[in-house]
Amino acid sequence: MNVISIGLLGLGTVGSGVVKIIEDHQDKLMHQVGCPIKVKKILVKSLDKERPIDIDPSVLTTDVNDILLDSEIDVVIEVMGGVEKTKDYLLQALNNRKHVVTANKDLMAIHGAELLQTASENECDLFFEASVAGGIPILRSIVDGLSSDKITKIMGIVNGTTNFILTKMSKNGAAYEEVLKEAQELGFAEADPTSDVEGLDAARKMAILATLGFSMEIDLDDVSVQGITSITEEDIQYGKQLGYTMKLIGMAKQEDDKVEVSVQPTLLSDSHPLASVQNEYNAVYVCGEAVGETMFYGPGAGSLPTATSIVSDLVVVMKNMRDGVNGKSIVSPQYPKKLKQDNE
Ligand code: HSE
Repeated sequence: MNVISIGLLGLGTVGSGVVKIIEDHQDKLMHQVGCPIKVKKILVKSLDKERPIDIDPSVLTTDVNDILLDSEIDVVIEVMGGVEKTKDYLLQALNNRKHVVTANKDLMAIHGAELLQTASENECDLFFEASVAGGIPILRSIVDGLSSDKITKIMGIVNGTTNFILTKMSKNGAAYEEVLKEAQELGFAEADPTSDVEGLDAARKMAILATLGFSMEIDLDDVSVQGITSITEEDIQYGKQLGYTMKLIGMAKQEDDKVEVSVQPTLLSDSHPLASVQNEYNAVYVCGEAVGETMFYGPGAGSLPTATSIVSDLVVVMKNMRDGVNGKSIVSPQYPKKLKQDNE
């Protein structure tokens, strides 16, 4: 390989982080994979918009075919968001034998199985570490790090916006609307924060975690979801007096042959490891039959943390290209062959 060419779909907060990490860490990346990485084309909505980073304007395009039909592009990195149109683009990319790295939890929670099947048919990699808990390498930890164990329970604080809101309401007695506005200004709330505060963003991430953790495809419709919109400051303060902390908890556990997945506001004992996770930070608490309790903690959103997971996925794609094992990698989180559980 002389050079690896990347097509980037989207140049927002996370896309800019991807470009920055590829540039700033080029030496380390080259050392690992043996050739330079070049961002060849970037799909943007408008060519005139001001960008947070310096970009050669000739790299920008508003025509997705400049990426999907360019035979020199080896890997497509998707950070544009959205579901149906994005799925279409990624299916085309995979069918054109391009490897894909995506941060898109909405897409993977809904169409993950179909995309992974298409990737496998084309002997392509499709990695999505950044889709759950941003900078925490939780998917590989579950799929590879704990592969020898039988996972019994996954509990997670996987939405930074709601954890930020609940932390501020608990500490400063701040009003819900005020703190939500602050989370939007800080850039970790979704463009439409309804999916954060109603629990849907966390439900998508829990569906992905549970699918990988329990090797059973969990449909988003099977996740019971309650957000934090009805939580009052009184609820939080009352719990606090009794030694409990209010958190939006995603829970997935297996009982007999069934996996139950839920997202709901929960009063956790102050002694629980997840109770100390503050502000926009995420944490995933995983219990295994043999390993016991583990907890993975870190930034769940933000430009550089999320981009770190994406570029680390890219490194695996490149190592697989070098070794000729794309689509067959043992480190690739694959959705299980066993399809949906019967919830009747
Ligand atoms: N809105 C999400 C959050 C961003 O608050 O966690 C990262 O997925």
